[in-house]
Amino acid sequence: MVADRVPCVFYGADYSPEQWPESVWPEDMQFMRRAGVNLVTLGVFSWARLQPSPDQYTFDWLDRVVGLLHENGISINLATATASPPAWLGRLHPESLPQNGHGARYHHGSRQHFCPNSAAYRDHGAKLVRQLATRYGRHPAVVMWTVNNEYGNHLAACYCDACATKFREWLREKYGSLDALNEQWGTAFWSQWYHDWAEILPPRLTPACSNPGRQLDYHRFMSESLLGCFLNEKKVLKELAPHLPVTTNFSGPHGLLKSANYFAWAEHVDFVSFNSYPDPHHADPADIAFSLDLQRGLGRGRAWALLEQAPSQVNWRKYNAVKRPGQMRLWTYQALARGADALVFYPWRAPRAGAEKFHSAMLPHGGPDTRVHREVIQLGQELSRLGLVCGGRIAAEVALIVDWENYWALELDARPGPLDYSEIVRSYYRALFEPDVAIDIIQPEDDLARYKLVIAPALYLVRDGVAENLSTFVGNGGTVVMSFFSGVVDASDRVLDGGFPGPFRKLLGIHVEEMEAIEPTMSRHVRTAARSTKCSQWIDLIELEGAEVVAHFTEDFYAGRPAITRNAFGRGLAYYIGTQVEMEFLRRLLVDICEETGIRPPLKVPAGVEAVTRENEHGRFLFLLNHSTNPQFIELGGLEGTDLVTGQALTRQFQIEPRGVCVVHVG
Ligand code: GAL
Repeated sequence: MVADRVPCVFYGADYSPEQWPESVWPEDMQFMRRAGVNLVTLGVFSWARLQPSPDQYTFDWLDRVVGLLHENGISINLATATASPPAWLGRLHPESLPQNGHGARYHHGSRQHFCPNSAAYRDHGAKLVRQLATRYGRHPAVVMWTVNNEYGNHLAACYCDACATKFREWLREKYGSLDALNEQWGTAFWSQWYHDWAEILPPRLTPACSNPGRQLDYHRFMSESLLGCFLNEKKVLKELAPHLPVTTNFSGPHGLLKSANYFAWAEHVDFVSFNSYPDPHHADPADIAFSLDLQRGLGRGRAWALLEQAPSQVNWRKYNAVKRPGQMRLWTYQALARGADALVFYPWRAPRAGAEKFHSAMLPHGGPDTRVHREVIQLGQELSRLGLVCGGRIAAEVALIVDWENYWALELDARPGPLDYSEIVRSYYRALFEPDVAIDIIQPEDDLARYKLVIAPALYLVRDGVAENLSTFVGNGGTVVMSFFSGVVDASDRVLDGGFPGPFRKLLGIHVEEMEAIEPTMSRHVRTAARSTKCSQWIDLIELEGAEVVAHFTEDFYAGRPAITRNAFGRGLAYYIGTQVEMEFLRRLLVDICEETGIRPPLKVPAGVEAVTRENEHGRFLFLLNHSTNPQFIELGGLEGTDLVTGQALTRQFQIEPRGVCVVHVG
């Protein structure tokens, strides 16, 4: 991706020169150069300035900006500008404005106010993209395209009539007949049987729980509708500038934006890009690492681009903490360590007006002589020495399964209890973050042969072939860890035959007869021979069918019943955790399993230090990131190398300062 094009890390800014008088632009160039900025994302929110009316384009100002950037040696990631349609579009085509499930329209005056199935929106968007690609597609400064911005971030779904029509077409295509649809959605229940395609509506406001099959299909349909908008623009870009890579920036808390099935989307981007906004006060470094590894996983291990991060605070949380000295640098290195070859901030210059005037910027309101800008300059200088890392991959022996359809289905209403899929999968990731075990984030159908351990938390929805994939992996000697509420429904959210955990029953050697949710005020525990832990969220009542007990519950009528089991299957092992255990317990359990399976971290480092290795044809790069506010001593053991950040040779033992970083090139 990006790395194939330039032998250096891209360091950059989201640049909105249209917010400033032209007289400011030369100063932008000067400060960008001094900060080492070599890439800007340009034009994300400039549709209204580029096209004042349907028949009029005003590219002269953009021509001058593009020229100026080029003269200054700064590459351009040109945005297609379609993320915030101009006022005229909604005025001429009111139906292009999206509608919520209560029938209310959203209006112009903010952003992302478009219905993904609006023909007017798509046509006008494609026309603008055609103009942009024709005019700038061959410009030497333009090195990539970003389509739109964070699709589905503000508006997860539209429920308008155009969407209803398209939904019916999508369903016809999927099911072929109404009988098949009725069967899959279970419409015999509550008199929901459809006799005519025209009767089918999006899941708009209903008095009680909406049909789960319909809800699940609407998630799929909306994700595909938004993806359709991306593809609509990508097609034009590929026609007119096929040499340029195309991306769209992924987003969402921990990277798990619910409205877009990013595994499906990632097949269509030339490289994955992501906007990361962890809370400086509360973010757990493990959660940040999860979101970064997710991007690596979406791109099948290839390098990706961090297309937005805040230089310091954001303005959209209730309380907006500034990044502590060194925090912005540390988190940027964390992204580099986990596969990002482009490190871009949002925005370049702090806006004077508008909704984000209290958002931090690379160039703050206070100008260049400010803490944030000084850190920006220092980081730019350092990153100019790190080009060797580009394209580096991470070799992982552990895989964590994440699946959007499962995410959607698991969190539908009317389950035994409320579950937070993101929280569940991240708890497993977190458990192995501290011991620095490298993890690939993958899908359930992926080839598992290269892994020693596969973790599949709460795999509630099981598509055809998934149980076979996991069973073959374990049969061939792999180890799997699964957890509660797995193997419950098929791809239409219909309960699988044969008792829980459905097609995993043989693999796991258990039968889950009943399950209940643990209320937050209830105290429940799990005990092994050696230790015990509090457990939460869920109780699976397990009957053994060949598995052995690793831990049991200690309270209520299920005291003594299995809570964690292990089953020998073929040449491998299958663990099942029938509740959510506390972090320390989970960590010890998973670390023991890693040891059993011969999985080792790259280096033993103190708590609070993250160790990650990227590798490419230039060698191995060991990133050591001190997330703590104390200095930490590192024992390199037999390793030695050069710290690419300082140029110093490193052997045996050395110290990393609080929030410090070090990138050891071990040859
Ligand atoms: C992102 C968005 C940017 C900007 C930023 C502020 O989600 O893509 O345009 O609004 O948030 O933190």
